[in-house]
Amino acid sequence: MKKRILYILLAIAVVAQFFQPDRSAPATDPANDMLAITKAPADIQQLVIGACYDCHSYKTNYPWYGKITPVNFIVQNHINEGREVLNFSLWDQFANSEAAGESGETIQESEMPPAYYRFMHGHGDLSAAQQQQLIAWFGSQGGAHGAGTESEKGEGTDND
Ligand code: HEC
Repeated sequence: MKKRILYILLAIAVVAQFFQPDRSAPATDPANDMLAITKAPADIQQLVIGACYDCHSYKTNYPWYGKITPVNFIVQNHINEGREVLNFSLWDQFANSEAAGESGETIQESEMPPAYYRFMHGHGDLSAAQQQQLIAWFGSQGGAHGAGTESEKGEGTDND
């Protein structure tokens, strides 16, 4: 009797694997990639790709468990949300966004990468020194204080 329930649960789990979220990412021009546009040095590229690109770009590396139902839907949901607010693959569109300016801040406040991601991925678990390196670099990119940079550019004009 108990065995039967187990088999039924197992069958449900197997069938559930056929339900997969849409993981397709559109082809994008590599020239519009944030790291290409900013000509980021290699060490910065490695840190940003390791800590941010899985959720904030179209270059997502899926972990093996990220394809198992129902984890896959949760993972894809975070990725879609992440891409929506900030997409490093579409830097032509996001460079001057509010989120671009907040990139350093979110690291500073340990908001990004999210805690569960740091826990699951060694490359997302930035050391204090790596965090400082990224904060400083994002800060040097002008966009770090997006709003401030905008108003400096538009000095004397009211272009809110
Ligand atoms: C596991 C996925 C994931 C990773 C990795 C990740 N983010 Fe996010 N990020 C999100 C999601 C989801 C949101 C939108 C919801 C939220 O604000 O929590 C977000 C929001 C943001 C925002 C907007 C914040 C706001 O308050 O509106 C910024 C800026 C940001 N992320 C920067 C980064 C940076 C920089 C990194 C790398 C150091 C990073 N994120 C890594 C998932 C991720």
